[in-house]
Amino acid sequence: MGNVFSEKQNHFRMQKTAFFSLVVVMAVSFFLFILSWENYKGESNWKVFSRKVLPRGEDTLIHAVQRIRKLSLLSGLPTKIERKTNKSNIYSLGNVKTQSRGPENPVPIMNLSSFKKLPQWSFEDIYNLDAPLTPTTCPQSLRNSKDEDFQKVFLPNICMFLHKDNFNIREWNRLSHFNNPFGFMGFKYNDVMPVVKLIPKPKEPLLLPKPGGDGCVHCAVVGTGGILNGSKMGAEIDAHDYVFRMNAAVVDGYEEDVGNRTSVYVHTAHSITASPIFYRKFGYKAAPHDEGIKYVLIPEGLRDFQWLNAVIKGERVAEGEYRNRNARTYYSGQYNETRFYVLHQDFLRYVRNRFLKSGNLNRGYWAIVRPTNGAFAIFTALHVCDTVSAYGFMTDDYSKYSNYYFQKYLKTNVVFYANHDYIMEKNLWKSFHERKIMKLFQKAKPQEKTEKPPPP
Ligand SMILES: *[C@@H]1O[C@H](CO)[C@@H](O)[C@H](O)[C@H]1NC(C)=O
Ligand SMILES: *[C@@H]1O[C@H](CO)[C@@H](O)[C@H](O)[C@H]1NC(C)=O
Ligand SMILES: *[C@@H]1O[C@H](CO)[C@@H](O)[C@H](O)[C@H]1NC(C)=O
Ligand SMILES: *[C@@H]1O[C@H](CO)[C@@H](O)[C@H](O)[C@H]1NC(C)=O
Ligand SMILES: *[C@@H]1O[C@H](CO)[C@@H](O)[C@H](O)[C@H]1NC(C)=O
Repeated sequence: MGNVFSEKQNHFRMQKTAFFSLVVVMAVSFFLFILSWENYKGESNWKVFSRKVLPRGEDTLIHAVQRIRKLSLLSGLPTKIERKTNKSNIYSLGNVKTQSRGPENPVPIMNLSSFKKLPQWSFEDIYNLDAPLTPTTCPQSLRNSKDEDFQKVFLPNICMFLHKDNFNIREWNRLSHFNNPFGFMGFKYNDVMPVVKLIPKPKEPLLLPKPGGDGCVHCAVVGTGGILNGSKMGAEIDAHDYVFRMNAAVVDGYEEDVGNRTSVYVHTAHSITASPIFYRKFGYKAAPHDEGIKYVLIPEGLRDFQWLNAVIKGERVAEGEYRNRNARTYYSGQYNETRFYVLHQDFLRYVRNRFLKSGNLNRGYWAIVRPTNGAFAIFTALHVCDTVSAYGFMTDDYSKYSNYYFQKYLKTNVVFYANHDYIMEKNLWKSFHERKIMKLFQKAKPQEKTEKPPPP
């Protein structure tokens, strides 16, 4: 009897052990699955990879073309891409120019994870250009800057806006070589193409000189930096023809320091949806919606195309992170097709490649490294305005100020996220200011500068 009993007990014990082992295996697999899923998601969702790092100094990586990657990593790439055997180690797209022959198909999907750092293509620094601009009626236009370095890199007629008429499968194939927001690497053709085909060609330039003015387009770009707290710059900002803002551009209650008008609001699907949640306690309720405001979208990821699809159609977002959101309500009744612009991947890539090529693009997390929304707003202004003044952007003495101007009663520190090179941007704004390309609002004069009469 006892034997049978103990045998049963043994059997039971074995079953228990087996069951326990199964649970452990399942738990471990689930954990691994979550890990790999997070990594997979990280390709399109920066938050996963976002982590704080120490600010990096200025990196001069204009020639970031050496030591690309091991040949083996290329094995999975589409055959159209040939590895140049010459010393410069630049990838080239074999038939980028000859694709008009025969039926055209999307190139196979390339994955961000195939590259350990920013890949360099032979056509990396080739951009779509718009028709040459008519000469400006503004003698002091930044387009007429005498600064040789600036003139060498500045493309006044870079193609700025993406729309159905400047996009086709050849463009898709070319742009599939660049990570978002500079292109569509890792995206599916059918997730992007139908949305781009909804974007109308802009009917008018983003900005025109004001009638009765001096023939110049004068712009202020207002960042959210703590330097604006107590600055009393509001009236000066509002005196410009146009005022650009981005992100949590709270105005109500801060007019004396930041002004009360917004003519252009630069945003991403993330910034327009997240800002009212994060910054409500500082009075930010919704994106600016002044009568006649122009909205500029930075299409930073797939979610922005899902967003755009809903915005243009006036429907709820059909899929993805913002599924079921009523996208147009985020524009408080000011959405208007003729006043909505989508920045072009070539414009964004030109800004990165020529002005803000961070050393972090050589790091494992290269795919999330990109200029800030504020930087893209400044560059938008530099290409559609004759004069640009930037307020609320980082300056050398940034540690004296809070992260945001609306943190009036709370001294915070500037937060450095790994996806942006804040120090490089800070140095660029300062250099633009010193080269008289743009005016940067600073409180403390840089020490090394000798006394100069203030600009008129
Ligand atoms: C990229 O990933 C997709 C699935 O996510 C896969 O089908 C494809 O083969 C990958 N391409 C390369 C070049 O690794
Ligand atoms: C090496 O490759 C670069 C980029 O494709 C090209 O411009 C250059 O002419 C090539 N040099 C030689 C010697 O083939
Ligand atoms: C913001 O400005 C006000 C007025 O100048 C000042 O009293 C306050 O300390 C400032 N806040 C921070 C966080 O620096
Ligand atoms: C902005 O402030 C100015 C005075 O500085 C005022 O004349 C104007 O009406 C204000 N505009 C708005 C939209 O509140
Ligand atoms: C959209 O904006 C344009 C240009 O400002 C204007 O002419 C048009 O009437 C507006 N449409 C609607 C529906 O408000």
